[in-house]
Amino acid sequence: MEESARTVLDFSSDVVISLHSWQRRTPLPEELFERAALDPAEFWLRVAHQVIEWIEPPTQSLQWNPPSSGSLPPWVAWFADGKLNVAQNCIDRHVRTWRRNKAAIIWEGEPGDTRVLTYYDLYREVQRCANMLRSLGVSKGDRVTIYLPLIPEAAIAMLACARIGAVHSVVFGGFSAEALRDRINDSQSTVLITADGGWRRGAIVPLKRNADEALRQCPSVRHVVVVQRGVMESDNVPMQEGRDHWWHQLMTHSDVTCPCVPLSSEDPLFILYTSGTTGKPKGQLHTTGGYLTGVTATTQWVFDIADEDVYWCTADVGWITGHSYVVYGPLANGATVVMYEGAPDYPDRDRWWALVEKYGVTIFYTAPTAIRTMMRWGEEYVQRHDVSSLRLLGSVGEPINPEAWMWYFTHVGGRRCPIVDTWWQTETGAIVIAPIPGRTALKPGSATFPLPGYRAVVLDEAGSPVPAGERGYLVLEQPWPSMSRTIWGDPERYVQTYWARYPGKYLTSDAATCDQDGYFWLLGRTDDVLNVAGHRISTMELESVLVEHPAVAEAAVIGRSDAIKGQVPVAFVTVRESHRNELPEIGEELKQYVTERIGAVARPAEVHVVVELPKTRSGKIMRRLLRDIAEGRVLGDTTTLADPAVVEQLKEKYRGEE
Ligand code: PRX
Repeated sequence: MEESARTVLDFSSDVVISLHSWQRRTPLPEELFERAALDPAEFWLRVAHQVIEWIEPPTQSLQWNPPSSGSLPPWVAWFADGKLNVAQNCIDRHVRTWRRNKAAIIWEGEPGDTRVLTYYDLYREVQRCANMLRSLGVSKGDRVTIYLPLIPEAAIAMLACARIGAVHSVVFGGFSAEALRDRINDSQSTVLITADGGWRRGAIVPLKRNADEALRQCPSVRHVVVVQRGVMESDNVPMQEGRDHWWHQLMTHSDVTCPCVPLSSEDPLFILYTSGTTGKPKGQLHTTGGYLTGVTATTQWVFDIADEDVYWCTADVGWITGHSYVVYGPLANGATVVMYEGAPDYPDRDRWWALVEKYGVTIFYTAPTAIRTMMRWGEEYVQRHDVSSLRLLGSVGEPINPEAWMWYFTHVGGRRCPIVDTWWQTETGAIVIAPIPGRTALKPGSATFPLPGYRAVVLDEAGSPVPAGERGYLVLEQPWPSMSRTIWGDPERYVQTYWARYPGKYLTSDAATCDQDGYFWLLGRTDDVLNVAGHRISTMELESVLVEHPAVAEAAVIGRSDAIKGQVPVAFVTVRESHRNELPEIGEELKQYVTERIGAVARPAEVHVVVELPKTRSGKIMRRLLRDIAEGRVLGDTTTLADPAVVEQLKEKYRGEE
């Protein structure tokens, strides 16, 4: 197996941290684990009955025809005869109890403006929004694209779609007009919900302007709803007559009663786009009953959320973490969720800790890249605040190096809070490998064990389990309720990407190793997908954008290890003869070009203009070599190179720039 570009974790599998005095607030009976091991499908059906309010409870658990039997999708179904509504589970069932006036969302904008929505507020707003969507012609199965800052309207819009069976596609507000356009066109959304803009580090993110640019090439969109976030005067927001409407105006005229539509368990809930190994993002389709079961149960097991908790996951709703662990999982559990719109260092580097103190956050979930950034800034910023309300910490998105783990544990958690390192993916919908706090002894840097109901293994190329301590492919051996059901519009790609390599088993595309105690250690991606600050970026997607630039003849993008972001993209390009005179500026221009075409998350850290890319005799670009060069490692075997002089030239170039 090819060594991934990530730094292999420098772990010691002997360090074990057990916090004996730490008590769960939500008890987990031992019987749960026994049942899960005995019969996972039966176990999940029981969990589905326990954690969900069904309109018609399912009698069926899993229906599963693995692809080896020759069938094409739909070939997996969970709880197929059950009927439910996700909004009912996240709102209505709480409104019937004392939670009616409990804070559901405590929101703070970057400038410091605040809003608190109780479950009853959410109940009213979501119904109004659902009626608003109906008045714009949205009905069951129609797609609605949501392109918003991290404001409560994002959750309201998602839940309103769920209420009427419309399928939402949330596009991260940091994505460019083109990225938005492609996602709208792929999903064929009829309505777009956006805002005048949002705040990021004191600057305006011009969402409506991006949306207008995108919409020039989105014939499916009939209506645009614009939330007035108030970043600019409404007179400065151009509104297209007949197409564009202000959210607040439509909401005022919408009825406040909109009953939940009973949906089948396998009805679609949302599409979320994620990078894969081609230039085209994949629309992962998640369905209703299985997804909600997965996120609701794992929120209980892993975050131990109880009514007394104030829970804050720092992810944006534009990513799967925001879907599953900002909106659906916590709200289905009746939790109080903190949402913060802006940057962690605005106005100063202590903003997050100021928020933890102000709202008395008890459970805090973030990404390793953020922890490493805070570590670099120094612990003085945490120490400015009383963060003793914290009782549990979480990590997601990339492997957490033991050093960052220990810093988080010591300086944020005061050595009293367990850290749940949660491994999962957009495709898995919910957490798969993570500690169960209060039960699992922790090893810094390890996501520990698969949760109940999952079977994870580390396999070699041939499909045999690798011995303890050896590196292999992480594979999930059986379906689980919150798995993505297909790639929107491309079922064949879904089967090929995930289920064909080891027929009937799910290929995660992550490398992993299991130590002698059975702990899982995640070692990064095995495909051409980079993990930049916890975000998935496809090298192919970057390359196809770069070659669309008129100056670029060929492009190769690789990931280089980075102390803060985990990985950063590095591009090697050859330039067309006709553009030779632009060479001095081309690097900056291409970085800007990628930012405009995809978004700042994909901006290359370096662009190297080379005379030729190193290729094998059959013409394949030698990425491994480029990685070695970018990371300054000793060169590997170059005998397959068509023109070895190219390597020397590349090495020279790299040295020259150091
Ligand atoms: O490589 C793994 C990494 O993030 C990938 C999934 O990215 P995405 O679909 O954007 O979802 C991110 C949030 C769940 C995985 O294939 N990854 C995620 N969590 C971890 C991780 N790698 C190591 N440890 C983790 N805890």
